[in-house]
Amino acid sequence: MSPSGWTGHERPESEAVLNTRVHPFPACPFSGEPPPLPEGPVFRARLPRGDLVWVVTGYEEVRAALNHPLLGRHVTTDDPHMGAEASMAGVLRDRTLLLDGPAHTQLRRLAAKPLAAGRVAGLLPRIRQLADRLLDGIEETGPPADLVARLAFPLPLGVLCDLLGVPARDGPAFRQWADRMTTIEAATEEETLAALHTMFTYLTGHLEGKRTRPGEDLLSAWLAAQEADDTLSDAEIIQLAFSVLFAGYESTAAAIGACIYGLLRHPEQLDILRASPGLLPNAVRALMRSQLATPYYRVLLARTDFRLGGVTVERGDGVMPLTWAAQRDPGRFPDRGSLDIRHGGEGAPDFVFGYGPHACLGAALATAMVEIALGTLIGRLPGLRPAVPPQTLAWHTDRFPGGGLRRLPVCW
Ligand code: HEM
Repeated sequence: MSPSGWTGHERPESEAVLNTRVHPFPACPFSGEPPPLPEGPVFRARLPRGDLVWVVTGYEEVRAALNHPLLGRHVTTDDPHMGAEASMAGVLRDRTLLLDGPAHTQLRRLAAKPLAAGRVAGLLPRIRQLADRLLDGIEETGPPADLVARLAFPLPLGVLCDLLGVPARDGPAFRQWADRMTTIEAATEEETLAALHTMFTYLTGHLEGKRTRPGEDLLSAWLAAQEADDTLSDAEIIQLAFSVLFAGYESTAAAIGACIYGLLRHPEQLDILRASPGLLPNAVRALMRSQLATPYYRVLLARTDFRLGGVTVERGDGVMPLTWAAQRDPGRFPDRGSLDIRHGGEGAPDFVFGYGPHACLGAALATAMVEIALGTLIGRLPGLRPAVPPQTLAWHTDRFPGGGLRRLPVCW
């Protein structure tokens, strides 16, 4: 049995479940046409690691699943798709955002305040400065440049370091630990855990420093909240810092890469954006919706039996909402995920930043980072073009919340 108690495929299946057809898990359409999906908005499929789950692909059903009171979050220490978050679940035992219910709501409220849209405005000059500096480096070394390594990863990491108040001198070490814990390079389980412990120790010391010399950063804001509300422990503050890093680093890197990829694959859209830079916010939303696909979502755990999309989900079943599929549900998105940067927000609301009680807390900041990355890139490199045919590029296919490009070589 898994450490979380989820029995998954080990649970004795009921007759109804045994009689349900098991489909192959649908591959993510990173760079082309979506695969044909089985009929019906909810079907049984086997994850690559062997677990049976209900895969949810219909728009309404995904929306219901993400906001369902009978479906819980669960992160196991042995979930290969959760990357370092799975290791984290085994190491960090206090309250985390991975919980459900009132404890989560309370922690989320504390976490959300310093990430609110109003605060993000104050960060814009710094994000622009970082993006410009990265473009300086790219121009200096000349083409070709890998935009995943030179822009998509370093920009969010720099911003998140700033946000956590990590001083510039510790930036390189922080980056190494963060990379070990996420995906920019493969790391063994031991290396991931070692990096996790090192960063934990570092942040613990850092928190002490912030107590005596508070700044404009998240840790200082949470320490101030701790004074006002003594339910927030130091360990929980550190876990919030981890959550921000995990949730915000790789996902934003993947989004920057996917949005640039989308423009390079659709040069006519890039031309429209070059001619009308005011379309940038619209374009980013449209690009994220159509290009940013994650192969997996979290497995949600049924607390009791209930009906979803015409099937009976039984207590203990795992349910995986496939947001990329829901965003191509022809009933809600007649364009079926095709790209038109002039129309960013039409149709049903999308799931790029999730939905329901766990919806993204960093959406405003993430959007600002992606917009600035794209705007700076297009402004600074007017001749931007792919250095290899975009359809030949490789994607991370085995991760949540990853799913980003491995490399994105460009010329200009
Ligand atoms: C384009 C980049 C990003 C995307 C696509 C994204 C997407 C998401 C999604 C889909 C969820 C919901 C996960 C779930 O249902 O379990 C989520 C949660 C979260 N995101 Fe983001 N995110 C991005 C960037 C960021 C950034 C920059 C931060 C922080 C600075 C952040 C902080 C969080 C946090 C703290 C949660 C957990 C909320 C909770 O469980 O209550 N995200 N994000």
